[in-house]
Order: sequence, then C-alpha cells, then structure tokens
Amino acid sequence: MKHETMEFTDGGLNLIDQRKLPGEVTYFRATDYRDVRLAISDMVVRGAPAIGATGAYGTYLAALEYSSRPKDEFLQLVKEACDQLASARPTAVNLTWAIDQMKGLIDEHADQPIEEILEVLFDGAEEIAAEDVEINKEMARHGVEVVPRGANVLTHCNTGALATVGYGTALGVIREAHKTGKGIHVYADETRPRLQGARLTAFELVEEEISATLIADSVAATLIRDKKVDVVLVGADRVAANGDTANKIGTYGLSELCAVHDVPFYVVAPTSTVDYSVESGADIEIEERSPEEVLMINGKRIAPEEIDVYNPAFDVTPAKNVTGVITERGIARSPLKESLSRFND
Ligand code: MRU
Repeated sequence: MKHETMEFTDGGLNLIDQRKLPGEVTYFRATDYRDVRLAISDMVVRGAPAIGATGAYGTYLAALEYSSRPKDEFLQLVKEACDQLASARPTAVNLTWAIDQMKGLIDEHADQPIEEILEVLFDGAEEIAAEDVEINKEMARHGVEVVPRGANVLTHCNTGALATVGYGTALGVIREAHKTGKGIHVYADETRPRLQGARLTAFELVEEEISATLIADSVAATLIRDKKVDVVLVGADRVAANGDTANKIGTYGLSELCAVHDVPFYVVAPTSTVDYSVESGADIEIEERSPEEVLMINGKRIAPEEIDVYNPAFDVTPAKNVTGVITERGIARSPLKESLSRFND
C-alpha cells in the first residue's frame, strides 16, 4: 500500500485514521497509552494483527510516561496500563498476545535500570511490528497455492495492509495471487455495519489495481449459489484450539453457504491468532458494539429512535466449515484440532 498503517516517530505512534478512509488520508497521533487505547476502541486502527502491534507500542508509551517513578511504582503502573490496553477490544487475541509479549519482556528485565527496560520495550514493539509484515508475506506464499488461476475470490471485511502492519492476511494472499499473475477477480463484501469492505478493502484493491467488484453483503449468497465464486478467503480475530474461528460478523453465514455449495472456505491468520487456551468457539468473547453503528450511516440516522439494536462485531465459524487455516507455518487442514496443535510450540 502507498500509505503506512502505523509508524512510530519522535515519541508518538502515527496511525492512519481508518475512520476517515477512503475520503481523507490523515494520521491520528497517539502520544500516550490512553490515546492508543482510544484509537483501538474507536477503530482508528482495527484488524487483529494491527491492534496487536498498536497495543505493543502503547505498552512502550506507558513505560515512557512512568519512567521517572521509583521502580516498584513504575512496574505497577505499566502493568495497570497493559490491562487497560488489553481491554480495549475483547475478541482479537492478537491484542492480548502482543501485550503479553511486552509484559514478558518487562518481567525478564525487571531487575535492570528503567532506561534499559525502555529500550527493550521499544525494540520489542518494533520487532512485533516488523515480524507481522514478514509473517503476512509468508502466509501469502503458502496461501497462493489454494487460489486457482483465473479464480473469482470472495472476501469479507478488511484483512489487508490496513488490518495489519503491512501486506495483509486474506488480502495478502489475494495481493500475492495478483502479483504472481494468476489473473484473479475479487468480490469484496461491503461488510455492514462499519463498511470495512466498502471503505477499506475497496480502497486497497483500487490502489493495487486488482480487478474487483464491491457487493452488498446479501449478494454473496446468489454469487456462491451461481458458481461465480471459486474460493472464499477471510481473516480471523481468534481461532480456538479446535479450529472454530471468530471473525467479522457475516463470516459464519458465508461459511455455511460455502458448505452447502461446496466452495472452499479458507481462514488466513498468523499462529499468534490461534488461542490454544480456548477449546472451542463457544468460549470466545464476542464484542458487542454501539447501536449507533447500525442506526446511522455516515453520521445520518436511518432508523427510528425507538428501535432496539443487536450489534455483535464478530461471529464464530465452526471448524467443520473451514477447509483450511493458512498460517505462516503452513496450511492446517481437517482435522483442524490435530493439525493446528502442530504449530503450538
Ligand atoms: O472489527 P474489525 O474491523 O477490527 O474486524 C476485523 C476482522 O474481523 C478481520 O477479519 C480480522 O481482524 C483479521 S484482520 C487481518
């Protein structure tokens, strides 16, 4: 992508403001961990890997803020800030994963001077960010195998450079298939209610000059039934140990359509998205977001004041509907519990 999703400069984290794309390309600058928490919860930055790396920088910013305090107080306050950051959004495990990595570094270096802990934390955040791009490229190299030449690929939400530090997960595979001359065509779901497909995926597809058609979410069923989709590629916010996958609301429905019409359905996610501590999808917390997201479009109310709203941000696709999970370490196929367990070391 022509624009960076995030960049840490001069003591602050610059995040492309995804609330304003594609109309305005502007950056939100987070100079303390509270700004970072707000950026995650308000979806300035979104997408599981992107919020993970953002959380890591947030931990560093908290440490910087408290660096003049006595050591015990410093450690306590940074830990509290980590808890605050981790609670910004509950479903994507990458956020807690990245913050746990940073907490691990703090524990490991707790005996050292604060100045040194700061350095270790900054390097740790930079490493999480840099590794994310490498991991995405690795997933793309594995994933491109499942995309037939000339395929029509359907994708949901935004899983591209914007949802990660760079390149993307499912959209990374699409990017790779395009780059390697597979001559693909993409159907991008608009992804109500936040329209990540219409606003962000379409933005990335147009920038990359990938042949694509934007569709309303409800069009996917007709396309899949009419054999106009060869493969569905989606991302994930959390994959349970048995392969059940939490992802953007609407993913489960797509997976059922694929199962009925015999279309391959792949999840593309780094192994850091697999939560081995969670046995099945039933144990994944699903974030519910503000009713305003459903009641309003572009700041304009479209429904009556009195109506009740149910707005879960994610749903869970059962492992039986998942043809494979494409990770940086290879493709896990059925039985997913067994094949995913091989990546748990
Ligand atoms: O609510 P969002 O926009 O953060 O949801 C994003 C998704 O559901 C993505 O599919 C998932 O995080 C994987 S992103 C590479």
